[in-house]
Amino acid sequence: GACTVVVGGRMVCACLVMGVEMAGCAVETIEGMADGDTLHPLQRNFLELNGLQCGICTPGILIAAKKLLEENPDPTEIEVRYWLAGNLCRCTGYDKVIRSVLEAAAEMRGS
Ligand code: FES
Repeated sequence: GACTVVVGGRMVCACLVMGVEMAGCAVETIEGMADGDTLHPLQRNFLELNGLQCGICTPGILIAAKKLLEENPDPTEIEVRYWLAGNLCRCTGYDKVIRSVLEAAAEMRGS
């Protein structure tokens, strides 16, 4: 799941899609997540709560988490864990990832 991107509102693994299939499609990647120098709340919470270590998995997790919060702004811990089940991380043990997503969700809801 490290290569997760959003195409036409759907999450896909970029490594499984041919470039020619993307002609004319809007592709949302990690490079477009921040607003200039202002990090997305997910990015900031991952930094502040140590939701990453080596960072290999992080772009895909952030894109997937952003998509989750667009569809479900108030997910439970279990919902976050299921949603990110396809994004493997060999460093963090996931607890800090999940906490980062839940904190960002709360912040984005204004609570
Ligand atoms: Fe290293 Fe996730 S932070 S694989």
